[in-house]
Amino acid sequence: MKHFVCRTCNFVSLEGKIERCPVCGQSSFDEIENAYKTPDFKAATGESEKKHIPVLSVKHKDVGISAKVKFGEIIHPMMAEHHIEYADFYVNNKYVSRIKFSPAVLPIAKIYVDAKTEGKIEVIGFCNLHGLWFNETQISKKEVING
Ligand SMILES: [Fe+2]
Repeated sequence: MKHFVCRTCNFVSLEGKIERCPVCGQSSFDEIENAYKTPDFKAATGESEKKHIPVLSVKHKDVGISAKVKFGEIIHPMMAEHHIEYADFYVNNKYVSRIKFSPAVLPIAKIYVDAKTEGKIEVIGFCNLHGLWFNETQISKKEVING
């Protein structure tokens, strides 16, 4: 599958061709085949996959729905020369937020979306050495948790 990837900030469109990057505002994109790695290769449970595949958890809270991402099952290193730079969040393929990391923090982030949101949350993370990594999860209809 081909994706439009922003030449300036690496943002990946999950909704096909777009005119302007919602992250940096630029309008030049590369069309890249399989721009990111997916958890499809779950059979490949190598250490690299475990450090890069986004681990998602979505919960209904009293203030809305929280979506948390962690890179990854084994926490990815956060060093100047090798770290996760950011997590891009999407709701039903539409970009909603980029959370940036620095080597001074762990690659874990959480956003909240409206309680009425249905469908799925997708995340793409970017490792400065190993590129883009995707995962997604359905928003479940579970009971509300405080916080
Ligand atoms: Fe990495």
